[in-house]
Amino acid sequence: MSVIGASPAVGLFCVPRSPPRDIHRFRMAVRSSAVSVAPIFTKLKHECATPLPLLRHVADAMAADMRAGLAVDGGSDLKMILSYVDSLPTGYVCIYVYMYVSSGIGVPCHFDPNSLGGKQERVIDTEFEQVSIPQELMFGTSEDLFDFIASGLDKFARKEGGKFYLPSGRKREIGFTFSFPVRQTSIDSGILIKWTKGFAVSGTAGRDVVACLNEAMERQGLDMRVSALVNDTVGTLAGARYWDDDVMVAVILGTGTNACYVERTDTIAKLQGHDSSSGRTIINTEWGAFSNGLPLTVFDREMDDASINPGEQIFEKTISGMYLGEIVRRVLLKIAEAGTFGDSIPEKLSTPFVLRTPDISAMQQDNSDDLKAVGSILYDITGVESNLSARKIVIEVCDTIVKRGSRLAGAGIVGILQKMEEDSQGLIFGKRTVVAMDGGLYEHYPQYRRYLQDAVTELLGLEISKNIRFILLQNRQGKTRLAKYYVPLEDSEKHKVEYEVHRLVVNRDPKFTNFVEFRTHKVIYRRYAGLFFSLCVDITDNELAYLECIHLFVEILDHFFSNVCELDLVFNFHKVYLILDEFILAGELQETSKKAIIERMGELEKLE
Ligand code: BGC
Repeated sequence: MSVIGASPAVGLFCVPRSPPRDIHRFRMAVRSSAVSVAPIFTKLKHECATPLPLLRHVADAMAADMRAGLAVDGGSDLKMILSYVDSLPTGYVCIYVYMYVSSGIGVPCHFDPNSLGGKQERVIDTEFEQVSIPQELMFGTSEDLFDFIASGLDKFARKEGGKFYLPSGRKREIGFTFSFPVRQTSIDSGILIKWTKGFAVSGTAGRDVVACLNEAMERQGLDMRVSALVNDTVGTLAGARYWDDDVMVAVILGTGTNACYVERTDTIAKLQGHDSSSGRTIINTEWGAFSNGLPLTVFDREMDDASINPGEQIFEKTISGMYLGEIVRRVLLKIAEAGTFGDSIPEKLSTPFVLRTPDISAMQQDNSDDLKAVGSILYDITGVESNLSARKIVIEVCDTIVKRGSRLAGAGIVGILQKMEEDSQGLIFGKRTVVAMDGGLYEHYPQYRRYLQDAVTELLGLEISKNIRFILLQNRQGKTRLAKYYVPLEDSEKHKVEYEVHRLVVNRDPKFTNFVEFRTHKVIYRRYAGLFFSLCVDITDNELAYLECIHLFVEILDHFFSNVCELDLVFNFHKVYLILDEFILAGELQETSKKAIIERMGELEKLE
């Protein structure tokens, strides 16, 4: 499986520095009673931990909620909205101007309506412009907002300078990408269910957003009409298909978050009277509303209580760009009360949403010894003065919150893939599947991206990796003398694996074969005096080849330690790992010639 960044990019997080409600003006407060930082921090780390079993639970719950949401409207937190996009572009685009509305971003661009050329030629030109939606319009009336969008479109269309002519009498067709939950009634109509991401525009919820835009365009005298309404995830999936036919899922991780995927229509029980010639349709999951089994803290709960949509969009509030900075700010305020930043608490630190996700990302990129950039960002934005140890704590807090969010996002992706695979075996696992990723958070926060990808690999690793998963060398008493894992596992999971493998091989009757099933894989083991060498491989792999591989390893050890014994391994563990790396790398057998390995080890020894 590969995870790609879809094009085009959708810009940075545009989060207002100070959203509504919850805006209090604090004077410089003096902390009342000193509390120690350590327990606050330990508790935070503990509550935000996302070990593999928790991620598995989240992935399973995501898959189960998807099913429930497909069965009946309101069946789960996930709305599982029909997109009415049943076939993905294969060479003809009728979208002329692409309008994207997100938290303050408008991105119109041109697509060629006629080109049937290769993938590179399908889009003859794109013009791209971002228009920030003024903050007051986020809380104003529906008319004002849509008038603003229509006038932006008008200005944009005027700039094209006659490059794109349409036959007279034909209105320009607009694809309208609307990044809020909409109950679609057809490809060109949909009712806004509710606003998210801090928007609270009056008079739009319950209305057809296409009608809202068409009316605004009429008011402005524009010769355009909306011919397709899509969620931004659906736009990402369709766009990514231009470049790669294996795209099956699209995920947005920006100010808000969401995912869509290609679903078989026969698995959608709530689908009535909607025919799809392809037998497939894109489902907009609206996964931001997911809430099952998430590891939440008091900081999340308090942020949710103070939000304009309490109790809603809990997944979004835990993993997306609009909220990560705010959660960190709430934690910093708490540790400021414990005296981490001196005796007083700056007023700015008490201002909701003053610390934004791009700020915490910038702090996490500071690799200097004195964390100078962290110090100045903290001071400029929150008024906090810090010494080195305080800055280190701040970085740890950012990392904890970002790691939790990104790993949960990874688990969500695996949940979707799992659901697709369960319905059509072989559709996802065992072949290339591409997840198109978009959104500023994913694009501009390297740690977020890395943690997310790690979580996906951890969850799928055991499923998709075909090679050696781990090799263990254990004595009869269960002491592990060497452990090399080629799939990422949490420490607690490794302990479990070692315990289980030891019990399995030590207690097995010597009359039985040296191959034994282990979870969804198999272990090939061999005993040499009091030591057990165990390899975990795929169920279909050739057992004899791996038995030979173990024996080769022992022969090389013998060569180096002249009749190897357990103590040699204990005292020369670094050499043992070196030898192992010479013939197994990244779970793949590299070399089977004893002579070649011994020669190479000789070369390495000369270098020492
Ligand atoms: C909205 C989704 C949207 C996502 C990403 C969420 O708040 O509910 O419709 O796709 O943000 O923009």
